Amino acid sequence: MEIVSSVNELREKIMTWKKQGRKTGFVPTMGYLHEGHLSLVRESKRRSGVTVVSIFVNPKQFGPAEDYKVYPRDLERDRALLQREGVDLIFYPPVEVMYPEGYKTYVEVEDLQDRLCGKSRPGHFRGVCTVVLKLFNLVQPDEAYFGWKDAQQVIILRKMVEDLNLPVKIVPLPLVRDHDGLALSSRNTYLSPDERRAALVLKKSLDLAERLILDGEKDAHKVREKMIELIAAEPLARIDYVEVVNLNNLEPVEKLEGEALIALAVIIGRTRLIDNLRITSGGIEK
Ligand code: PAJ
Repeated sequence: MEIVSSVNELREKIMTWKKQGRKTGFVPTMGYLHEGHLSLVRESKRRSGVTVVSIFVNPKQFGPAEDYKVYPRDLERDRALLQREGVDLIFYPPVEVMYPEGYKTYVEVEDLQDRLCGKSRPGHFRGVCTVVLKLFNLVQPDEAYFGWKDAQQVIILRKMVEDLNLPVKIVPLPLVRDHDGLALSSRNTYLSPDERRAALVLKKSLDLAERLILDGEKDAHKVREKMIELIAAEPLARIDYVEVVNLNNLEPVEKLEGEALIALAVIIGRTRLIDNLRITSGGIEK
């Protein structure tokens, strides 16, 4: 396994593999890897000839008051984990390689970027789309793997790929949880033991939603109200949003019929956590 930090080194590797006709799988990350990330890596290993992982804490997707500076980083640990998975290449660029002085070009997916997390994190998805498009252009993957943990990110990136005719297939994979149900996230390291316990309220509210829906509740408003009530009873939790939306256009739905996404963001102490549940033809996934 090699680690490269420059565009030229990366391009050289990619060109060699392309000439050999090997299918490239790509897993973009911001590092500080956990089992959620590794589930994407394993699926790429299973389906592709070569697997490239990028580790880049992208400053353009953090707001000015957000945690860019303190976002957890541990390259040595990440390197060991990826080595063990049999990853072929890590792309680990410094900020000035991705955004040299005078950088001016951005990608926006209108409307979708302003909903759910976009409301409280203006500019976040513009930063995500911009960096992911750049990474796609550099790595030229056949398939790119993303987690449903970040459902809005999956939906927006799919739209970007469709609208810009990018020759890459987005492969979304299930959300991976800790043994107690908390969705794995690099940001979970910010939580104190009390906050860690309080954070279980996100998953509990989704369990409640699932039970109501399985019992026949079709009124999205009622499901939402019950979730809000449950979360409000947790003193360490402050709700950013709880929404029931269409799984393709992210517009609010009133009746739970067909596909839907129940997504929430809750601030525990100073840490903003997200979680979600998807209703598809295959049933409820969370
Ligand atoms: P990051 O938060 O590091 O996540 C990298 C990938 O891992 C994303 O596709 C994310 O959805 C997935 N992931 C994170 N936690 C997961 C979990 N518990 N279960 C399943 N998948 C999980 O998302 C980003 O980085 C960035 O926005 C990025 C796409 C790299 C662009 O900068």
